[in-house]
Amino acid sequence: MPKILIIGGGGREHALAWKFSQAPNTQIYAAPGNAGMSAVAQCVNISENDFDGLLNFAKKNAIDLTVVGPETPLVNGIVDQFTAAGLPIFGPTAKAAAIEGSKNFAKNLMQKYDIPTAKHHTFTDVAAALLHVKTAPLPTVIKADGLAGGKGVIIAETAEQAQQAVESLFKLGDKLIVEEFLQGEEFSFIALVHGETVYPLEIAQDHKRAHDGDKGANTGGMGVYSPVPQISQATIQQALTEILQPTAAAMVAENRPFTGFLYGGLIATAGGAKVIEFNARLGDPEAEVILPRLQNNLFEVIMDILHEKPVKLAWKEETFVAVTLAACGYPGDITKAKGAEIAGLQDLSPETLIFHAGTAFANGKFTVNGGRVLFVAACGENVQAARTAVYSEVAKIQCNGLFYRKDIGAKAIL
Ligand code: AMP
Ligand code: GLY
Repeated sequence: MPKILIIGGGGREHALAWKFSQAPNTQIYAAPGNAGMSAVAQCVNISENDFDGLLNFAKKNAIDLTVVGPETPLVNGIVDQFTAAGLPIFGPTAKAAAIEGSKNFAKNLMQKYDIPTAKHHTFTDVAAALLHVKTAPLPTVIKADGLAGGKGVIIAETAEQAQQAVESLFKLGDKLIVEEFLQGEEFSFIALVHGETVYPLEIAQDHKRAHDGDKGANTGGMGVYSPVPQISQATIQQALTEILQPTAAAMVAENRPFTGFLYGGLIATAGGAKVIEFNARLGDPEAEVILPRLQNNLFEVIMDILHEKPVKLAWKEETFVAVTLAACGYPGDITKAKGAEIAGLQDLSPETLIFHAGTAFANGKFTVNGGRVLFVAACGENVQAARTAVYSEVAKIQCNGLFYRKDIGAKAIL
């Protein structure tokens, strides 16, 4: 019976646990997991950043495979430590996770290997950056270098906004990137990667802004759907051969071979797909719609990839749409929403997928406990049908501390 350890405790990790649990006779642990995952995984109270605790647990329980959800443990070298201890783990080493951990590293890599991306300038000096944005074409995009949990990017519409962005983002680190604004549809293209071997997953489209019509602050993701009909197969193919495959090869050439989920955040511009950012992990909430479409046994797929055996991925044709239910105030202060009771979950149809993130469970009730609280996913034969299905399910959930976007997937209805 395979034993799998999932590191992390959000919706993505719940989706991973659910996907692994579809295979019979699998023992799944999640560290730390979350209150809503208990039907599919045994939660272990070890933080995702407690590497000694995680290593000891994996050794003691003879874990066959560890899969890492979030970026922070990856960037901090969890894969290096597990590998040194002889424990099988799927994820990039710290050197390879730099593709997400340092935007400057990622931009230089793309420049060196001719991987299509926005033109950029890197600054280590505030005065030089301020001078540059005075005359940079608008809108202009300003990014902090390190991990910033989605808060490190400002799109400035005016020169004044650009000046303010430079001042505030320099407070997050000692490097800053100013780049060209790319126009077009965004999509998330994630692949299972091992060295130069790249197995693309189906694409998805996230909704980053907090409110309907792409208004409000950037968030971790307010909803997602897959497939994305307005992105052509030709664009996906170009993104595979000009972006994901050459990036995997470039990482090998740089002596930073990448193993794990390589996530390209792309924009389909008039001149083809270009990279906005790379992540060194699965997307959240992308995982919540991509994994339900995958027909393969994920444990077998990952083990085969690690053993360099060829795999063939098979996909459900249906569309999945997932809506994020977030705490009122998110991505800002959610204190007032905390503790609000969530009712109606038991009324959802058994086919609906509910992935938990920021919930707590006490006295038989789920309550709001974090920024993104629940992800509700449903499927249909096309985006329209899946949207209808998911929103009629979301309507059954009653909670005065939650809000959600009503327009997830609306752009895809042509
Ligand atoms: P990131 O944190 O890098 O994912 O950026 C957050 C969001 O900012 C992205 O999802 C895009 O919507 C937007 N963005 C970032 N870089 C660019 C760019 N060069 N051109 C247009 N939009 C961008
Ligand atoms: N959904 C965006 C991300 O995972 O980074």
